[in-house]
Amino acid sequence: MKRFRKLLIVGLMLPLISDAQEKGLKDYYRDDFLVGAAVGYFFQQDEPLMALLKQHFNVVTPENQMKWEAIHPQPDRYAFEAADALVDFAQQNGMKVIGHCLTWHSQTPKWVFEHPDGTPLTRDELLARMQEHITTVMTHYKGKIHGWDVVNEAIKDGDDDVVLRDSPYLRIIGEDYLDHSFRFAKAADPSAELYYNDYSMADPKKREKALILLKGLIDRGVPIDGVGMQAHWSIYDPSIEEIEKSILAYHNLGLKVMITELDLSLYKFDDRSKPYEEAIPDSVLQLQAERYRQIFELFKKHSDKITRVTFWGVSDRHSWLNNFPVRNRRNAPLLFDREYKPKPAFEAVIKAAQQ
Ligand code: XIL
Repeated sequence: MKRFRKLLIVGLMLPLISDAQEKGLKDYYRDDFLVGAAVGYFFQQDEPLMALLKQHFNVVTPENQMKWEAIHPQPDRYAFEAADALVDFAQQNGMKVIGHCLTWHSQTPKWVFEHPDGTPLTRDELLARMQEHITTVMTHYKGKIHGWDVVNEAIKDGDDDVVLRDSPYLRIIGEDYLDHSFRFAKAADPSAELYYNDYSMADPKKREKALILLKGLIDRGVPIDGVGMQAHWSIYDPSIEEIEKSILAYHNLGLKVMITELDLSLYKFDDRSKPYEEAIPDSVLQLQAERYRQIFELFKKHSDKITRVTFWGVSDRHSWLNNFPVRNRRNAPLLFDREYKPKPAFEAVIKAAQQ
């Protein structure tokens, strides 16, 4: 009887033990925010990648599969297969999906803005095309998408006071193209969260412009739920103080704050040198780990304001930064190395969760 009891106790504990081994990033931050990753094409041919996704992440973003050029390559042809594959995988594994993205000047075909003879569409024609695209894509995924990046990267870079970047949307429709984009999205799927998403959102000048843009949307009653700070940062910048100022400023507008495309490049943005092609020095990986620790301690401190932290990829092997802004340069911005092994940065992020 005694022996039976012992066996029973061990038997009951087994699932706990194996659960502990399976514990992933998402579990460490369960009470703080969702933890996500961007996922590219061909993930299903990569078993180890799928295993990491299941263990560590509870939300995914298609890295390219839902962009206009991918999902709507020709005026009367939609191509949902690649995005469907990721949405199905996410649903089968209890993960949420972020839609990325509906209105963006990049990775959008030229025909979107033109008649077949190359002359530009009128404002009303482009609005109609935008509405048709947003409605078709969002309806296809209705009920399956947690939130959409409705407008991506609309703000102009630089120290001037011009808020909106030049783009065919701005030239043809005018400044209210964002309002329309959000309103079309709300009508298409009222239950999805709607976001504005951009890079350099911790830069003081860009923050100033973002606050003008976001406040304008809110004042005009445009349906927006949150703001995405892409967070394509480096191991050198921006400072923790500037990141914190931005989180607070966006939160104070009443918006959900999300970190949507996190990676920490080994290079400052203007550095075009290639010092690490042979090997990455340990000191650099340690510096990266320390930066990841500080950044996640900050995220944890503000976990009442931050609803999601998404990495732009999983393994350094597939990071887009191996080809941007320098083509074919070795970068290592993520938590898992080229062999999918956890890096010092991974341990640092776990440590920050336990502070
Ligand atoms: C990048 C992808 O990672 C690359 O594969 C693609 O070639 C270019 O786009 N901001 C965004 C993302 O919002 O969609 C971009 O993704 C990275 C910058």
